[in-house]
Amino acid sequence: MLGSPDVEAVLAWSAGRRDDLPWRQTRDPWAVLVSELMLQQTQVSRVIPRWHQFLERFPSAPACANAPLGDVVTEWAGLGYNRRAVNLHRAAVVVTNDYAGVVPDDLEALLALPGLGPYTARAVLAFAYEQDMAVVDTNVGRILARQRGERLSARVAQTFADDIVPIGMGWSWNQGMLDLGALVCTKRAPKCDVCPTSSTCAWLIGGAIEPDPAIGSAAVSKGQSKFVGSFREGRARLLDVLRTGIEIPPEQFQNACGWNDRDGGALDAVRAADSLVRDGLAVKRCDGALALP
Ligand code: ADE
Repeated sequence: MLGSPDVEAVLAWSAGRRDDLPWRQTRDPWAVLVSELMLQQTQVSRVIPRWHQFLERFPSAPACANAPLGDVVTEWAGLGYNRRAVNLHRAAVVVTNDYAGVVPDDLEALLALPGLGPYTARAVLAFAYEQDMAVVDTNVGRILARQRGERLSARVAQTFADDIVPIGMGWSWNQGMLDLGALVCTKRAPKCDVCPTSSTCAWLIGGAIEPDPAIGSAAVSKGQSKFVGSFREGRARLLDVLRTGIEIPPEQFQNACGWNDRDGGALDAVRAADSLVRDGLAVKRCDGALALP
């Protein structure tokens, strides 16, 4: 039907595809939660080795909760968007204290965990507990908008996505949709000639005219801002120095940010240090030195 994906064709296209992704070989909800948080802003190829390493160090929610937050932040090195590490640690503490160490299998309980939004909560239910729940990330949001041929609100997108999950196949369906969005229904230059559901795509059938309905549609990200030369880059460098295990006195903030030649670098470095503290990624000692929590 026009505007609604050909379920059989998508399932056939995705069968066996990328089954080798390691988080697809487990149903351990902790391991799934870690993978989904890592995958939110970081490429699959970069996540794979780090996911293994992280789970070796913190194989369960209690193992993570019982470690100092600084150890978790250190283990997150190289993945970026470090606040995810703080939230993961906080979530692990709640899971340990309130759910006997087992990531819950209930949407409301998951949504109440620190840092878990609708995508992550539903991904745990679909990929660990095999519930028939639709997950809508940026890739799926793009497919839905193009299938419908219009920009969708969050509620319409989620309801539409939930309505098309084939009964009993939530796990495969969602993995297939994520792959379809990542590999075929891409942001730029979608590969409509090989798309298993091009025959129902209202946008394509209408001539794929601009603007692309995915732009500004629910869950579709606007893309990450440029990292090189940014405030975030200096802040990340500062945190990387902390990860080596040393404390940084205030007079070395600017150097640690790599901002010796930057206009206003000294002031920005103080702001970077403050923002790490605000986000829970660092603490300030009484002498003003910065350290991991
Ligand atoms: N991105 C988010 N979740 C994913 C998954 N389970 N597999 C591949 N890419 C993903």
